[in-house]
Amino acid sequence: IGVRCLGGQAASPLQESAVEEEMEWDNLGFSLVQTDYMYVMKCGEEESEFEAGQLSRFGNIELSPAAGVLNYGQGVFEGTKAYRSENGGLFLFRPQDNAIRMQIGADRMCMQSPSVHQFIHAVKQTALANRRWIPPPGKGSLYIRPLLIGSGPVLGVAPAAEYTFLVYASPVGNYFKEGTAAINLYVEDEFHRAGRGGAGGVKSVTNYAPVMKAMRRAKDKGFSDVLYLDANNKRDIEEVSASNVFMLKDNVISTPPMNGTILEGITRKSIMDIAQDLGYQVEERAIPIEELLEADEVFCTGTAVVVAPVGSITYKGNRVEYKMSAELGCLKLQSRLVGIQRGEIEDSRGWLV
Ligand code: COI
Repeated sequence: IGVRCLGGQAASPLQESAVEEEMEWDNLGFSLVQTDYMYVMKCGEEESEFEAGQLSRFGNIELSPAAGVLNYGQGVFEGTKAYRSENGGLFLFRPQDNAIRMQIGADRMCMQSPSVHQFIHAVKQTALANRRWIPPPGKGSLYIRPLLIGSGPVLGVAPAAEYTFLVYASPVGNYFKEGTAAINLYVEDEFHRAGRGGAGGVKSVTNYAPVMKAMRRAKDKGFSDVLYLDANNKRDIEEVSASNVFMLKDNVISTPPMNGTILEGITRKSIMDIAQDLGYQVEERAIPIEELLEADEVFCTGTAVVVAPVGSITYKGNRVEYKMSAELGCLKLQSRLVGIQRGEIEDSRGWLV
């Protein structure tokens, strides 16, 4: 298949058909299914650029107990997806945007990062080497996880002297256990996801463990996920644990602005463009929680989440329910986005690779 591999051969056609027969493509959720290969690339001490990377069999990696990522959380990651189209084509969606976002995050976390070309090459190689795991059209996608970590040992608080960039992949379906049904959000008013001047605006690994406690509490009460409020005023909405949030009122679609505490989602910005194409007015502005509760529709966006309609929001013990129908504006946005991602709708902005 034209890729260099360490520790194993590329999958044979026989193995491919075995996966197709064994995999239950209809039951994919969002949990790790180990695939065949990962891509690894390192940037050593004194080096300002990454060395050429290689595919190797997916497996454990060796790290010093003193690695920067283990001790001080020096790590950033990305999420992107590969789709299979009806005519057998394989598509990546805006991988250059992930590459640039990783560079911005790496700079914030004082890390060396791969060039855009190196990043895209690694993502392509990983997708191709694992292509038998890309679900059939309409059954899901191959979620690709580029990860950049401070792998060099360090004792005092300082940047690591070595960085490892690796990319692995897993076939996925719907992110939420609700599948394509609407999700129920709990508004958190004790914990906050990010503060001004912190790292909430980049995809640092350190942004995710702190949301788990609030998320577990909410899930134990039957909610799908948590919506966070601005830590300064405890009033404006920010984002959900791993997705951006939007509201629709009349013909206006609004989402909180980038102020350093909200991740600049690639799905978020794609949806803003698509919404304009579909004739909506789009605004980035502060949205008080009370206004969200009065919206016609609320929805979340993200690479993993795609576009998820919100069925209810619970704030300070009061549950507000939103009307659901096949005519929801967010479902039109979702179907346009997914159509472009699968190569079914014209990609007029050149988003596909
Ligand atoms: C993504 O949408 O790619 C994310 O990063 C979500 C992930 C944390 C599950």
